[in-house]
Amino acid sequence: MLGNFSYHNPTKLYFGDDSLKYLREELSNYGKNIQLIYGGGSIKRSGLYDEIVAVLKECGKTIIADAGVMPNPTSEKLVEGAKLARENKVDLLLAVGGGSCCDYAKAVSVSAYCDDDPWEKYYIRFEEPDCEIIPVACVLTMAGTGSEMNGGSVITNHSQKLKIGHVFGDEVMPKFSILNPKYTMTLPKRQMVSGIYDIFNHICEQYFSGEDDNTSDYIAEALMKSVVKSSLIAVDNPEDYEARSNIMWTATWALNTLISRGKETDWMVHMLGQAVGAYTDATHGMTLAAVSLPYYRHIMPYGLKKFARFAVEVWGVNPNGKTDEQVAEEGLSALKSWMKKLGVTLSIGELGADESMIEGIADATIILDGGYKVLDRDEVVAILKESL
Ligand code: NZQ
Ligand code: ZN
Repeated sequence: MLGNFSYHNPTKLYFGDDSLKYLREELSNYGKNIQLIYGGGSIKRSGLYDEIVAVLKECGKTIIADAGVMPNPTSEKLVEGAKLARENKVDLLLAVGGGSCCDYAKAVSVSAYCDDDPWEKYYIRFEEPDCEIIPVACVLTMAGTGSEMNGGSVITNHSQKLKIGHVFGDEVMPKFSILNPKYTMTLPKRQMVSGIYDIFNHICEQYFSGEDDNTSDYIAEALMKSVVKSSLIAVDNPEDYEARSNIMWTATWALNTLISRGKETDWMVHMLGQAVGAYTDATHGMTLAAVSLPYYRHIMPYGLKKFARFAVEVWGVNPNGKTDEQVAEEGLSALKSWMKKLGVTLSIGELGADESMIEGIADATIILDGGYKVLDRDEVVAILKESL
């Protein structure tokens, strides 16, 4: 492990099927005005909304409702939410939902008292907040993004056709998150598998980089094996609590910065996927699934040893008598069969992209340099075309 680093994570987690009981105690640390952030209605249908409102009322809180956070929250919605928070002197932003609600809450936290245009400041110029920040907390209903224990906040700007994430610091990360695997049971299967692929890809993005012997890579392999095993159980039986709880916990650890310690990280699948998302508004995990195999096939020769290791350690490929290329290829084939068993999308065409969008998607793709190969624009175009 050759990199130097610090590690700190300020988010307190409550995990398990009784975890909501800690909400009351946590709420006592904040003032009266709670902005209750939720999405398009799943928490009303499941009954979770009523449970949360009952706790807030018992604690004497004033609820400022902020409903209708869409999947892939937009810059317009952010401006509305920031205004609501500012006008109501909100003391805590409580997100109840998936990564979109949680990401949105973080964006509102740094935008309510921001004098500038938050989209321009945080997502175009990547500046850090220099205003008052409202605390954020999360009750998670979808496992995938890791937003419950990180500083990430992804916002989509439809008029500019851009979807961009900003990773904020400790002061924006949720103060606490409540993780009850039972809340994820009402997810439609398509969302469940999309979240599962998101988890797996977060691990890949941090795994496929570096040449040194690094503890982070061993932890990453263990997390990948856990998510593969539990996903196959959950796909057959979504009601399996043990599998769903492993998936939820793995999602948190896949992206709370632990497994990136001492490493460069890649994140190019996310950059490609986010650009596809900016054009199609497709489900996040599906955009990643659709570009992954063409991308990994493309970079495999540059990180061959790691791809061979991935095949052996994660997928159990027997390397005896085979070249590294053969072993690595078998690993990617195993990945593809697993993706097919999950039922994730393998083509950006199925998500609404077409040939005429390729140049625009390539323009919207931010090229990062932490992986095994720094892509040039022609390579981005080639990978996108292969993903169609
Ligand atoms: O809006 P509601 O009605 O709640 O429905 C949601 C939404 O339609 C539904 N859902 C969530 N929990 C449910 C449920 N339906 C039934 N039962 C439940 N228990 O699922 C749909 C998708 O929800 P969403 O929050 O959009 O999904 P996800 O958690 O995948 O979040 C996606 C957003 O997070 C960003 C993505 O780019 C995307 O904008 N990401 C955030 C990251 C971070 N903070 O670090 C990293 C990720 O790579 C990702 O980019
Ligand atoms: Zn992701």
